[in-house]
Amino acid sequence: MVAPVLVLDFGSQVTQLIARRVREAGVYCEIVPFNKADAALAEGPRAIILSGGPCSVHEEGSPRAPQAVFDLGVPVLGICYGEMTMCEQLGGAVEGGHAREFGRADIVICKGSPLLDGLGDAKSHEPVWMSHGDKITAIPPGFHIVATSENSPNAVIANEERRFYGVQFHPEVVHTPRGSQILKNFVIKIAGIEPTWNMHAFKEKAIAKIREQVGTGRVICGLSGGVDSSVAAVLLHEAIGDQLTCIFVDTGLMRAGESEEVVSLFRGHYNIPLLHAEASEMFLTELEGVSDPEKKRKIIGKAFIDVFDYESAKVGGADFLAQGTLYPDVIESVSATGGPSVTIKSHHNVGGLPAHMKMKLVEPLRELFKDEVRALGRELGLPESFVGRHPFPGPGLAIRLPGEITREKLEILRKADTIYLDEIRQAGLYDKIWQAFAVLLPVKTVGVMGDGRTYDFVCALRAVTSTDGMTADYYPFEHSFLARVSTRLVNEVKGINRVCYDITSKPPGTIEWE
Ligand code: XMP
Repeated sequence: MVAPVLVLDFGSQVTQLIARRVREAGVYCEIVPFNKADAALAEGPRAIILSGGPCSVHEEGSPRAPQAVFDLGVPVLGICYGEMTMCEQLGGAVEGGHAREFGRADIVICKGSPLLDGLGDAKSHEPVWMSHGDKITAIPPGFHIVATSENSPNAVIANEERRFYGVQFHPEVVHTPRGSQILKNFVIKIAGIEPTWNMHAFKEKAIAKIREQVGTGRVICGLSGGVDSSVAAVLLHEAIGDQLTCIFVDTGLMRAGESEEVVSLFRGHYNIPLLHAEASEMFLTELEGVSDPEKKRKIIGKAFIDVFDYESAKVGGADFLAQGTLYPDVIESVSATGGPSVTIKSHHNVGGLPAHMKMKLVEPLRELFKDEVRALGRELGLPESFVGRHPFPGPGLAIRLPGEITREKLEILRKADTIYLDEIRQAGLYDKIWQAFAVLLPVKTVGVMGDGRTYDFVCALRAVTSTDGMTADYYPFEHSFLARVSTRLVNEVKGINRVCYDITSKPPGTIEWE
Protein backbone atom coordinates (compact mmCIF):
# COMPACT_ATOMS: atom_id res chain seq x y z
CA MET A 1 0.00 0.00 0.00
CA VAL A 2 1.39 3.37 -1.01
CA ALA A 3 1.07 5.91 1.76
CA PRO A 4 -1.05 8.83 0.53
CA VAL A 5 0.61 11.09 3.10
CA LEU A 6 4.35 11.19 3.73
CA VAL A 7 5.89 12.82 6.77
CA LEU A 8 9.51 13.79 6.19
CA ASP A 9 11.30 13.47 9.50
CA PHE A 10 13.82 16.12 10.47
CA GLY A 11 14.46 14.49 13.86
CA SER A 12 11.78 15.99 16.10
CA GLN A 13 10.91 13.94 19.20
CA VAL A 14 7.23 14.30 18.28
CA THR A 15 7.30 13.40 14.59
CA GLN A 16 5.37 10.22 15.30
CA LEU A 17 2.51 12.25 16.68
CA ILE A 18 2.01 13.84 13.27
CA ALA A 19 1.52 10.40 11.77
CA ARG A 20 -0.77 9.47 14.59
CA ARG A 21 -3.03 12.49 14.15
CA VAL A 22 -3.23 11.94 10.40
CA ARG A 23 -4.17 8.29 10.93
CA GLU A 24 -6.77 9.35 13.48
CA ALA A 25 -8.28 11.37 10.66
CA GLY A 26 -8.62 8.07 8.76
CA VAL A 27 -5.73 8.61 6.36
CA TYR A 28 -2.76 6.22 6.21
CA CYS A 29 0.53 7.93 6.55
CA GLU A 30 4.18 6.94 6.81
CA ILE A 31 7.30 8.61 8.13
CA VAL A 32 10.54 8.69 6.15
CA PRO A 33 13.80 10.39 7.09
CA PHE A 34 14.31 13.59 5.09
CA ASN A 35 17.50 12.13 3.61
CA LYS A 36 16.05 8.76 2.58
CA ALA A 37 12.85 9.97 1.01
CA ASP A 38 13.56 9.55 -2.71
CA ALA A 39 11.88 6.17 -3.16
CA ALA A 40 8.81 7.18 -1.17
CA LEU A 41 8.52 10.47 -3.05
CA ALA A 42 8.75 8.60 -6.35
CA GLU A 43 5.71 6.53 -5.34
CA GLY A 44 3.56 9.62 -5.70
CA PRO A 45 2.26 10.71 -2.29
CA ARG A 46 -0.79 12.95 -2.38
CA ALA A 47 0.39 15.23 0.43
CA ILE A 48 3.67 15.85 2.26
CA ILE A 49 4.30 17.07 5.79
CA LEU A 50 7.72 18.37 6.84
CA SER A 51 8.31 17.68 10.55
CA GLY A 52 10.00 19.81 13.17
CA GLY A 53 13.59 19.14 14.15
CA PRO A 54 16.32 20.09 16.61
CA CYS A 55 18.49 22.10 14.16
CA SER A 56 18.53 25.72 13.10
CA VAL A 57 18.43 26.27 9.34
CA HIS A 58 21.58 28.35 9.86
CA GLU A 59 23.63 25.47 11.25
CA GLU A 60 26.13 24.16 8.78
CA GLY A 61 24.87 20.97 7.19
CA SER A 62 21.37 21.40 8.61
CA PRO A 63 18.83 19.31 6.72
CA ARG A 64 16.81 20.47 3.72
CA ALA A 65 13.77 18.98 2.05
CA PRO A 66 14.50 17.26 -1.28
CA GLN A 67 13.56 19.56 -4.16
CA ALA A 68 11.02 16.96 -5.37
CA VAL A 69 8.82 17.87 -2.40
CA PHE A 70 8.10 21.24 -4.00
CA ASP A 71 8.03 19.97 -7.59
CA LEU A 72 5.43 17.20 -7.25
CA GLY A 73 2.49 19.58 -7.37
CA VAL A 74 1.00 18.17 -4.15
CA PRO A 75 0.10 20.06 -0.96
CA VAL A 76 2.98 20.57 1.49
CA LEU A 77 2.69 21.49 5.18
CA GLY A 78 5.84 22.57 6.98
CA ILE A 79 5.75 22.33 10.78
CA CYS A 80 8.23 24.37 12.84
CA TYR A 81 11.64 23.42 11.41
CA GLY A 82 9.76 22.14 8.36
CA GLU A 83 8.26 25.60 7.91
CA MET A 84 11.69 27.23 8.31
CA THR A 85 13.39 25.10 5.70
CA MET A 86 10.46 25.45 3.31
CA CYS A 87 10.63 29.20 3.72
CA GLU A 88 14.39 29.29 3.14
CA GLN A 89 14.22 26.91 0.16
CA LEU A 90 11.41 28.84 -1.54
CA GLY A 91 13.10 32.25 -1.40
CA GLY A 92 12.05 33.62 1.99
CA ALA A 93 14.40 34.57 4.80
CA VAL A 94 14.95 33.04 8.22
CA GLU A 95 17.01 34.42 11.07
CA GLY A 96 18.65 32.14 13.58
CA GLY A 97 19.97 32.70 17.07
CA HIS A 98 16.73 33.91 18.64
CA ALA A 99 15.81 33.06 22.18
CA ARG A 100 13.86 29.84 22.02
CA GLU A 101 10.11 30.38 22.13
CA PHE A 102 8.84 27.42 24.10
CA GLY A 103 5.41 26.56 25.42
CA ARG A 104 1.92 27.93 25.12
CA ALA A 105 1.13 30.87 22.86
CA ASP A 106 -1.96 32.33 21.25
CA ILE A 107 -2.18 32.87 17.52
CA VAL A 108 -4.50 35.45 16.03
CA ILE A 109 -6.09 34.50 12.74
CA CYS A 110 -5.89 37.34 10.25
CA LYS A 111 -7.09 35.75 7.03
CA GLY A 112 -9.34 32.80 6.27
CA SER A 113 -7.68 29.63 4.95
CA PRO A 114 -8.92 26.06 4.40
CA LEU A 115 -6.09 25.00 6.72
CA LEU A 116 -7.83 26.67 9.65
CA ASP A 117 -11.40 25.69 8.73
CA GLY A 118 -13.49 24.96 11.80
CA LEU A 119 -11.27 27.12 14.00
CA GLY A 120 -12.27 30.69 14.79
CA ASP A 121 -12.98 33.51 12.35
CA ALA A 122 -10.61 36.36 11.57
CA LYS A 123 -9.28 38.09 14.70
CA SER A 124 -10.08 35.11 16.91
CA HIS A 125 -7.40 33.68 19.22
CA GLU A 126 -6.30 30.08 19.13
CA PRO A 127 -4.06 28.42 21.74
CA VAL A 128 -1.05 26.59 20.27
CA TRP A 129 2.22 25.05 21.48
CA MET A 130 5.46 26.60 20.23
CA SER A 131 9.01 25.28 20.37
CA HIS A 132 11.47 27.01 18.07
CA GLY A 133 14.55 29.24 17.94
CA ASP A 134 14.63 30.40 14.30
CA LYS A 135 12.38 33.18 13.11
CA ILE A 136 11.00 33.96 9.63
CA THR A 137 11.88 37.50 8.59
CA ALA A 138 10.57 37.38 5.01
CA ILE A 139 7.99 34.99 3.65
CA PRO A 140 8.65 33.47 0.21
CA PRO A 141 7.09 35.01 -2.92
CA GLY A 142 3.48 33.92 -3.45
CA PHE A 143 2.87 33.40 0.29
CA HIS A 144 0.74 35.47 2.63
CA ILE A 145 0.27 35.56 6.39
CA VAL A 146 -2.72 33.64 7.77
CA ALA A 147 -2.09 33.99 11.50
CA THR A 148 0.34 35.77 13.79
CA SER A 149 1.39 35.47 17.41
CA GLU A 150 3.10 37.94 19.70
CA ASN A 151 6.55 36.49 19.04
CA SER A 152 5.92 34.99 15.61
CA PRO A 153 4.47 37.41 13.10
CA ASN A 154 4.47 34.53 10.58
CA ALA A 155 2.89 31.89 12.80
CA VAL A 156 0.85 30.50 9.87
CA ILE A 157 1.68 31.24 6.26
CA ALA A 158 0.12 30.00 3.04
CA ASN A 159 0.47 29.91 -0.69
CA GLU A 160 -3.10 28.81 -1.47
CA GLU A 161 -2.45 28.47 -5.19
CA ARG A 162 0.35 25.91 -4.78
CA ARG A 163 -1.26 24.53 -1.57
CA PHE A 164 1.90 25.14 0.45
CA TYR A 165 1.43 25.92 4.17
CA GLY A 166 3.74 26.60 7.07
CA VAL A 167 2.95 26.63 10.79
CA GLN A 168 5.47 27.72 13.36
CA PHE A 169 3.76 25.82 16.20
CA HIS A 170 3.19 22.07 16.67
CA PRO A 171 -0.38 21.07 15.67
CA GLU A 172 0.43 17.40 16.47
CA VAL A 173 0.76 17.78 20.26
CA VAL A 174 -2.23 17.77 22.60
CA HIS A 175 -1.21 21.18 23.92
CA THR A 176 -2.46 22.60 20.61
CA PRO A 177 -6.09 21.68 21.33
CA ARG A 178 -7.36 22.07 17.78
CA GLY A 179 -4.17 20.92 16.09
CA SER A 180 -5.83 17.67 14.97
CA GLN A 181 -8.41 19.72 13.09
CA ILE A 182 -5.61 21.57 11.27
CA LEU A 183 -3.96 18.32 10.18
CA LYS A 184 -7.32 16.86 9.19
CA ASN A 185 -8.07 19.96 7.11
CA PHE A 186 -4.71 19.58 5.41
CA VAL A 187 -5.08 15.93 4.38
CA ILE A 188 -8.82 15.76 3.73
CA LYS A 189 -9.94 19.25 2.69
CA ILE A 190 -6.79 20.51 1.01
CA ALA A 191 -5.29 17.28 -0.37
CA GLY A 192 -8.72 15.73 -1.01
CA ILE A 193 -7.82 12.29 0.39
CA GLU A 194 -10.71 9.96 1.36
CA PRO A 195 -10.55 8.95 5.05
CA THR A 196 -10.67 5.19 4.54
CA TRP A 197 -7.80 3.92 6.71
CA ASN A 198 -8.60 1.87 9.82
CA MET A 199 -7.29 -1.10 11.80
CA HIS A 200 -8.87 -3.59 9.44
CA ALA A 201 -6.91 -2.04 6.60
CA PHE A 202 -3.75 -2.06 8.69
CA LYS A 203 -4.21 -5.72 9.54
CA GLU A 204 -4.48 -6.73 5.90
CA LYS A 205 -1.43 -4.70 5.00
CA ALA A 206 0.60 -6.03 7.92
CA ILE A 207 -0.24 -9.64 7.08
CA ALA A 208 0.86 -9.17 3.47
CA LYS A 209 4.07 -7.49 4.64
CA ILE A 210 4.89 -10.29 7.09
CA ARG A 211 4.34 -12.95 4.41
CA GLU A 212 6.58 -11.06 2.02
CA GLN A 213 9.36 -10.59 4.58
CA VAL A 214 9.30 -14.09 6.04
CA GLY A 215 8.65 -16.21 2.95
CA THR A 216 8.95 -19.82 4.05
CA GLY A 217 11.27 -18.99 6.98
CA ARG A 218 10.68 -20.00 10.58
CA VAL A 219 9.81 -17.30 13.12
CA ILE A 220 10.03 -17.29 16.87
CA CYS A 221 8.19 -14.69 18.89
CA GLY A 222 9.10 -13.71 22.43
CA LEU A 223 5.90 -13.50 24.46
CA SER A 224 5.97 -11.34 27.55
CA GLY A 225 2.29 -11.50 28.37
CA GLY A 226 1.92 -7.83 27.58
CA VAL A 227 -0.44 -6.50 24.95
CA ASP A 228 2.20 -5.86 22.31
CA SER A 229 3.82 -9.25 22.09
CA SER A 230 0.41 -10.96 22.33
CA VAL A 231 -1.01 -8.92 19.47
CA ALA A 232 2.17 -9.47 17.45
CA ALA A 233 1.94 -13.23 18.04
CA VAL A 234 -1.70 -13.50 16.99
CA LEU A 235 -1.11 -11.31 13.93
CA LEU A 236 1.90 -13.42 12.93
CA HIS A 237 -0.10 -16.58 13.43
CA GLU A 238 -2.77 -15.28 11.06
CA ALA A 239 -0.07 -14.44 8.54
CA ILE A 240 2.18 -17.50 8.64
CA GLY A 241 0.43 -20.17 10.74
CA ASP A 242 2.72 -23.01 11.78
CA GLN A 243 5.90 -21.24 10.75
CA LEU A 244 5.57 -19.44 14.11
CA THR A 245 6.68 -20.69 17.52
CA CYS A 246 6.20 -18.52 20.60
CA ILE A 247 8.66 -18.51 23.48
CA PHE A 248 7.89 -17.28 26.94
CA VAL A 249 11.08 -16.59 28.86
CA ASP A 250 10.88 -16.66 32.63
CA THR A 251 13.60 -14.14 33.41
CA GLY A 252 13.13 -14.17 37.16
CA LEU A 253 12.13 -10.55 36.70
CA MET A 254 8.41 -11.17 36.28
CA ARG A 255 5.61 -10.06 38.58
CA ALA A 256 4.02 -12.53 40.99
CA GLY A 257 2.09 -15.27 39.21
CA GLU A 258 2.84 -13.78 35.78
CA SER A 259 4.55 -16.78 34.23
CA GLU A 260 1.72 -19.17 35.11
CA GLU A 261 -0.89 -16.66 33.94
CA VAL A 262 0.72 -16.04 30.57
CA VAL A 263 1.41 -19.65 29.79
CA SER A 264 -2.05 -20.86 30.76
CA LEU A 265 -3.78 -17.98 29.00
CA PHE A 266 -1.89 -18.50 25.78
CA ARG A 267 -2.10 -22.25 25.74
CA GLY A 268 -5.76 -22.03 26.73
CA HIS A 269 -6.82 -19.47 24.17
CA TYR A 270 -4.68 -20.14 21.16
CA ASN A 271 -3.44 -23.04 19.25
CA ILE A 272 0.02 -21.55 18.84
CA PRO A 273 3.04 -23.68 19.82
CA LEU A 274 4.49 -22.16 23.00
CA LEU A 275 7.82 -23.00 24.60
CA HIS A 276 8.28 -22.03 28.24
CA ALA A 277 11.95 -21.29 28.96
CA GLU A 278 12.96 -21.17 32.63
CA ALA A 279 15.98 -18.86 32.58
CA SER A 280 15.81 -16.92 35.83
CA GLU A 281 19.08 -18.34 37.16
CA MET A 282 20.93 -17.14 34.08
CA PHE A 283 19.38 -13.65 34.02
CA LEU A 284 19.90 -13.02 37.72
CA THR A 285 23.48 -14.30 37.68
CA GLU A 286 24.39 -12.03 34.77
CA LEU A 287 22.81 -9.05 36.51
CA GLU A 288 24.64 -9.64 39.80
CA GLY A 289 26.40 -6.51 41.04
CA VAL A 290 25.17 -4.34 38.12
CA SER A 291 23.56 -0.99 39.00
CA ASP A 292 23.84 1.08 35.84
CA PRO A 293 20.44 1.23 34.07
CA GLU A 294 21.86 1.08 30.55
CA LYS A 295 24.14 -1.86 31.46
CA LYS A 296 21.16 -3.70 32.92
CA ARG A 297 19.17 -3.16 29.74
CA LYS A 298 22.02 -4.35 27.51
CA ILE A 299 22.64 -7.45 29.63
CA ILE A 300 18.95 -8.34 29.55
CA GLY A 301 18.71 -7.76 25.78
CA LYS A 302 21.65 -10.10 25.19
CA ALA A 303 20.38 -12.73 27.62
CA PHE A 304 17.04 -12.79 25.80
CA ILE A 305 18.79 -13.45 22.51
CA ASP A 306 20.92 -16.23 24.03
CA VAL A 307 17.76 -17.90 25.31
CA PHE A 308 15.95 -17.42 22.00
CA ASP A 309 18.91 -18.96 20.14
CA TYR A 310 19.03 -21.90 22.52
CA GLU A 311 15.28 -22.50 22.50
CA SER A 312 14.86 -22.05 18.77
CA ALA A 313 17.54 -24.68 18.17
CA LYS A 314 15.16 -27.13 19.85
CA VAL A 315 12.53 -26.53 17.17
CA GLY A 316 14.99 -26.82 14.30
CA GLY A 317 16.30 -23.23 14.29
CA ALA A 318 14.63 -19.96 13.39
CA ASP A 319 15.36 -17.39 10.72
CA PHE A 320 13.44 -14.54 12.30
CA LEU A 321 12.80 -13.15 15.74
CA ALA A 322 9.46 -11.37 16.07
CA GLN A 323 8.92 -8.69 18.65
CA GLY A 324 6.09 -6.40 19.65
CA THR A 325 8.20 -3.27 19.25
CA LEU A 326 6.14 -0.06 19.12
CA TYR A 327 6.71 3.43 17.81
CA PRO A 328 7.47 4.96 21.21
CA ASP A 329 10.06 2.19 21.84
CA VAL A 330 11.67 3.06 18.58
CA ILE A 331 11.74 6.82 18.77
CA GLU A 332 13.35 6.86 22.18
CA SER A 333 16.06 4.37 21.31
CA VAL A 334 17.01 5.44 17.80
CA SER A 335 14.96 7.64 15.54
CA ALA A 336 12.03 5.66 14.20
CA THR A 337 13.22 5.62 10.65
CA GLY A 338 16.90 6.44 10.93
CA GLY A 339 16.75 10.21 11.38
CA PRO A 340 18.72 12.07 14.08
CA SER A 341 17.30 11.63 17.60
CA VAL A 342 18.71 11.43 21.12
CA THR A 343 18.90 8.12 23.03
CA ILE A 344 16.88 8.29 26.24
CA LYS A 345 16.83 4.57 27.07
CA SER A 346 17.86 1.44 25.22
CA HIS A 347 14.61 -0.48 25.21
CA HIS A 348 15.31 -4.15 25.13
CA ASN A 349 13.08 -4.48 22.11
CA VAL A 350 15.43 -2.33 20.11
CA GLY A 351 18.63 -0.75 21.40
CA GLY A 352 19.36 -3.42 23.98
CA LEU A 353 19.75 -6.12 21.34
CA PRO A 354 23.29 -7.14 20.43
CA ALA A 355 24.55 -5.75 17.12
CA HIS A 356 25.25 -9.21 15.72
CA MET A 357 22.32 -11.55 15.89
CA LYS A 358 21.83 -14.67 13.86
CA MET A 359 18.12 -14.04 13.44
CA LYS A 360 16.59 -11.19 11.51
CA LEU A 361 13.93 -9.07 13.21
CA VAL A 362 10.23 -9.02 12.34
CA GLU A 363 8.49 -6.12 14.03
CA PRO A 364 4.97 -5.86 12.63
CA LEU A 365 3.87 -3.22 15.16
CA ARG A 366 6.82 -0.86 14.97
CA GLU A 367 4.77 1.86 13.32
CA LEU A 368 1.86 1.68 15.77
CA PHE A 369 1.09 3.47 18.99
CA LYS A 370 -0.15 1.56 21.99
CA ASP A 371 -3.79 2.49 21.58
CA GLU A 372 -3.58 1.48 17.91
CA VAL A 373 -2.14 -1.87 19.01
CA ARG A 374 -5.07 -2.31 21.35
CA ALA A 375 -7.47 -1.53 18.49
CA LEU A 376 -5.62 -4.09 16.34
CA GLY A 377 -5.89 -6.64 19.17
CA ARG A 378 -9.65 -6.14 19.19
CA GLU A 379 -9.73 -6.45 15.40
CA LEU A 380 -7.90 -9.79 15.81
CA GLY A 381 -10.43 -10.94 18.39
CA LEU A 382 -8.17 -10.92 21.45
CA PRO A 383 -10.12 -10.97 24.72
CA GLU A 384 -10.58 -7.64 26.48
CA SER A 385 -8.72 -8.95 29.56
CA PHE A 386 -5.63 -9.17 27.38
CA VAL A 387 -6.13 -6.04 25.36
CA GLY A 388 -6.72 -3.87 28.42
CA ARG A 389 -3.65 -5.00 30.41
CA HIS A 390 -1.26 -2.33 31.60
CA PRO A 391 2.03 -2.31 29.68
CA PHE A 392 4.88 -4.28 31.24
CA PRO A 393 8.42 -3.57 30.01
CA GLY A 394 10.62 -6.25 28.48
CA PRO A 395 13.34 -5.85 31.14
CA GLY A 396 10.63 -6.45 33.75
CA LEU A 397 11.21 -5.71 37.41
CA ALA A 398 14.92 -5.06 36.76
CA ILE A 399 14.13 -1.47 35.84
CA ARG A 400 11.89 -1.05 38.90
CA LEU A 401 14.75 -1.86 41.23
CA PRO A 402 17.19 1.04 40.91
CA GLY A 403 20.62 -0.16 41.97
CA GLU A 404 21.68 -3.76 42.39
CA ILE A 405 19.16 -6.52 41.82
CA THR A 406 18.94 -9.25 44.43
CA ARG A 407 16.48 -12.08 44.89
CA GLU A 408 15.51 -10.63 48.25
CA LYS A 409 14.64 -7.24 46.75
CA LEU A 410 12.74 -8.88 43.90
CA GLU A 411 10.63 -10.78 46.40
CA ILE A 412 9.83 -7.60 48.36
CA LEU A 413 8.96 -5.74 45.16
CA ARG A 414 6.66 -8.53 43.94
CA LYS A 415 4.69 -8.49 47.19
CA ALA A 416 4.39 -4.71 47.13
CA ASP A 417 3.33 -4.65 43.48
CA THR A 418 0.63 -7.28 44.05
CA ILE A 419 -0.89 -5.36 46.97
CA TYR A 420 -0.81 -2.06 45.09
CA LEU A 421 -2.45 -3.50 41.97
CA ASP A 422 -5.01 -5.38 44.09
CA GLU A 423 -6.06 -2.14 45.73
CA ILE A 424 -6.24 -0.38 42.36
CA ARG A 425 -8.51 -3.12 40.98
CA GLN A 426 -10.68 -3.12 44.09
CA ALA A 427 -11.12 0.64 43.81
CA GLY A 428 -12.26 0.17 40.18
CA LEU A 429 -9.37 2.27 38.91
CA TYR A 430 -7.40 -0.24 36.81
CA ASP A 431 -8.89 0.82 33.48
CA LYS A 432 -8.61 4.52 34.25
CA ILE A 433 -4.84 4.21 34.65
CA TRP A 434 -2.38 3.67 31.79
CA GLN A 435 0.16 1.93 33.98
CA ALA A 436 0.70 1.43 37.70
CA PHE A 437 3.54 -0.28 39.50
CA ALA A 438 5.73 -0.26 42.58
CA VAL A 439 9.44 0.60 42.61
CA LEU A 440 11.76 -0.50 45.40
CA LEU A 441 14.31 2.19 46.12
CA PRO A 442 17.88 1.35 47.12
CA VAL A 443 17.43 3.50 50.21
CA LYS A 444 16.84 2.35 53.77
CA THR A 445 15.17 4.59 56.30
CA VAL A 446 14.46 4.38 60.01
CA GLY A 447 10.97 3.68 61.24
CA VAL A 448 9.19 2.52 64.35
CA MET A 449 6.82 -0.43 64.52
CA GLY A 450 5.27 -1.52 67.76
CA ASP A 451 7.98 -0.67 70.24
CA GLY A 452 10.83 -1.48 67.92
CA ARG A 453 13.06 0.35 65.50
CA THR A 454 12.97 -0.66 61.84
CA TYR A 455 15.57 0.03 59.19
CA ASP A 456 14.01 -0.96 55.89
CA PHE A 457 13.56 -0.03 52.23
CA VAL A 458 11.44 2.75 50.74
CA CYS A 459 8.79 1.77 48.22
CA ALA A 460 7.76 4.31 45.56
CA LEU A 461 4.40 3.96 43.87
CA ARG A 462 3.86 5.10 40.30
CA ALA A 463 0.57 5.45 38.42
CA VAL A 464 0.17 7.46 35.25
CA THR A 465 -2.41 8.37 32.67
CA SER A 466 -1.30 8.52 29.05
CA THR A 467 -2.57 7.74 25.57
CA ASP A 468 0.62 6.44 24.03
CA GLY A 469 3.38 6.35 26.65
CA MET A 470 5.17 9.28 25.05
CA THR A 471 3.80 11.82 27.49
CA ALA A 472 2.18 11.04 30.82
CA ASP A 473 0.65 12.60 33.92
CA TYR A 474 0.63 11.15 37.41
CA TYR A 475 -2.74 9.76 38.46
CA PRO A 476 -4.49 11.94 41.10
CA PHE A 477 -5.42 9.27 43.67
CA GLU A 478 -7.55 10.23 46.64
CA HIS A 479 -5.35 10.62 49.72
CA SER A 480 -7.40 7.98 51.48
CA PHE A 481 -6.49 5.49 48.75
CA LEU A 482 -2.79 6.23 49.08
CA ALA A 483 -3.02 5.99 52.85
CA ARG A 484 -4.68 2.58 52.59
CA VAL A 485 -2.03 1.23 50.25
CA SER A 486 0.76 2.65 52.38
CA THR A 487 -0.62 1.04 55.54
CA ARG A 488 -0.98 -2.31 53.83
CA LEU A 489 2.51 -2.19 52.36
CA VAL A 490 4.23 -1.35 55.62
CA ASN A 491 2.16 -3.84 57.60
CA GLU A 492 2.20 -6.71 55.15
CA VAL A 493 5.54 -6.51 53.34
CA LYS A 494 8.56 -7.29 55.46
CA GLY A 495 11.41 -5.09 54.28
CA ILE A 496 9.39 -1.92 53.54
CA ASN A 497 8.85 0.73 56.19
CA ARG A 498 8.13 3.84 54.11
CA VAL A 499 6.04 4.62 51.03
CA CYS A 500 6.23 7.55 48.58
CA TYR A 501 4.02 8.48 45.64
CA ASP A 502 5.75 9.69 42.47
CA ILE A 503 4.05 12.83 41.13
CA THR A 504 6.39 13.50 38.21
CA SER A 505 4.91 13.83 34.75
CA LYS A 506 6.62 12.73 31.51
CA PRO A 507 8.42 14.82 30.43
CA PRO A 508 10.49 15.68 32.39
CA GLY A 509 10.37 12.23 34.05
CA THR A 510 9.95 8.96 32.21
CA ILE A 511 7.29 6.43 33.20
CA GLU A 512 9.71 3.77 34.43
CA TRP A 513 12.41 4.82 36.85
CA GLU A 514 15.25 3.46 34.71
P1 XMP B 1 9.40 5.22 29.66
O1 XMP B 1 9.96 4.72 30.96
O2 XMP B 1 10.42 5.24 28.57
O3 XMP B 1 8.32 4.14 29.24
O4 XMP B 1 8.67 6.50 29.81
C1 XMP B 1 7.36 4.28 28.22
C2 XMP B 1 6.61 2.97 28.12
O5 XMP B 1 7.49 1.95 27.62
C3 XMP B 1 7.61 0.89 28.55
N1 XMP B 1 9.01 0.46 28.51
C4 XMP B 1 9.45 -0.62 27.85
N2 XMP B 1 8.79 -1.54 27.14
N3 XMP B 1 10.84 -2.67 26.70
C5 XMP B 1 9.49 -2.58 26.58
O6 XMP B 1 8.90 -3.47 25.96
C6 XMP B 1 11.56 -1.77 27.39
O7 XMP B 1 12.78 -1.87 27.47
C7 XMP B 1 10.83 -0.69 28.00
N4 XMP B 1 11.22 0.36 28.77
C8 XMP B 1 10.07 1.06 29.07
C9 XMP B 1 7.21 1.46 29.88
O8 XMP B 1 6.76 0.45 30.78
C10 XMP B 1 6.12 2.43 29.47
O9 XMP B 1 4.90 1.77 29.24
